[in-house]
Amino acid sequence: MASDVVTMEKIVSLCKRRGFVFPSSEIYGGIGSSYDYGHYGVLLKNNVKAQWWRSLLQERDDVVALDSAIIQHPRTWEASGHLAGFTDPLVDCRTCKHRFRADKLEDGQCGEKPSKRPGEGPNCDLTEARNFNLMFQTTVGPVQDEGSVVYLRPETAQGIFLNFKHYLQFARKKPPFGIAQIGKSFRNEITPGNFVFRMREFEQMEMEFFVPPDQAGTWYEFWKQARFDWYVKLGIRADHLRLRPHDADELSHYSTGTSDVEYLYPIGWQELEGIANRGNYDLTQHAEYSRQNLEYVDTASGERYLPHVIEPAAGADRAALAFLCDAYDEDQIEGETRTVLRLHPLLAPVKAAVLPLVKKDGQPELAHAIVAELRDRLQVEYDEGGAIGRRYRRQDEIGTPWSITIDHQSLEDHTVTVRDRDTLTQERVPVDALAGELERRLREPWSPPGD
Ligand code: GAP
Repeated sequence: MASDVVTMEKIVSLCKRRGFVFPSSEIYGGIGSSYDYGHYGVLLKNNVKAQWWRSLLQERDDVVALDSAIIQHPRTWEASGHLAGFTDPLVDCRTCKHRFRADKLEDGQCGEKPSKRPGEGPNCDLTEARNFNLMFQTTVGPVQDEGSVVYLRPETAQGIFLNFKHYLQFARKKPPFGIAQIGKSFRNEITPGNFVFRMREFEQMEMEFFVPPDQAGTWYEFWKQARFDWYVKLGIRADHLRLRPHDADELSHYSTGTSDVEYLYPIGWQELEGIANRGNYDLTQHAEYSRQNLEYVDTASGERYLPHVIEPAAGADRAALAFLCDAYDEDQIEGETRTVLRLHPLLAPVKAAVLPLVKKDGQPELAHAIVAELRDRLQVEYDEGGAIGRRYRRQDEIGTPWSITIDHQSLEDHTVTVRDRDTLTQERVPVDALAGELERRLREPWSPPGD
């Protein structure tokens, strides 16, 4: 593992300390591997999602958006194969009562002390492996019977396939085109963990790109590269990312080819996003189960076919975690260790902090006026509490790229200093030009210092 990879403990501690992410339901003792996003976490994850939308909806004209229901018709999951096949092999230990994934025993820990791998302790008594469906089941309506069973979606993708026909009609799209959506998905993971990396409730950013069958290979290659480049453009170091093609025995039931964008997390190389060539599996299945014709018909040529699908499927939580890990840095300033998140400015929760040097002499009033003007265009924060050095450190820790300081000179010549989080340079800028200058900086290409 690279020596410049931060530990997960440091990330978890920063996230809790600064209110990015914390364990859910803590006043009741927590509920394993559920997390709540606090103020800065919400802003960060929103920025990640906004950049994803932007790259698909604003920077292209062949992708459209969708926000489908979490609870779909239960036949969806029969057709998709999830009801029969979305399972992990599970074993129970009759002694410690813990549950493990049978295919990941080497990652588990027996419930008895001294802790050992499941099955290796003197009292371990593992059951035979049995298949455990990862979908959460619930019921709709007031009567709980078999006919009312539904599932929380385990992926956002199926909602897209169910709506494919609508998009052919009202969006007047013809392949190649994509439908994208962001939303919560739910999986009853047997072994969740590693902070927000593997949770039971998480957010996905998925796009199904429908193509003429003979173009599937070309578009698969295109989206693999495009999705890799998206992370690099937003500041992840290219040597912390890799594209790994799945071996034949790893492929999902629907896939004829999948590559993962992997990130070098503190826990090692792990999947950040999967790009799959799903062929026409899903449309074939839904056409059969719904008895609807889901073919695309070219009105000019009369050609008809079931499009093939290339699917870039990312996790918003895993992406936010990767951006946090890659941004985390510690350096020395005036003999003190500074923790700094060198986030791409577009992802930073707060773009600029406005800091009057003292709480008197008209400085807070000018600072408030500047905040009022900037907030129209950027996420800004006002802070007048404590020594200026401490206030800079607070902003560094949440990744604020620019700190605006109002001092006595500001009242005389209507200029302020702009301190850069990464270079620590301070530049005097006229108040009138400040918003434009910050917006100019925000639009500039950015890469991590030293890269
Ligand atoms: N529609 C295809 C699909 O769902 P996946 O690889 O199972 O593929 C896509 O999921 C992405 O969703 C993953 O690359 C990961 O980023 C995220 N993801 C999956 N399970 C997750 C979990 N339990 N917790 C957090 N993120 C998860």
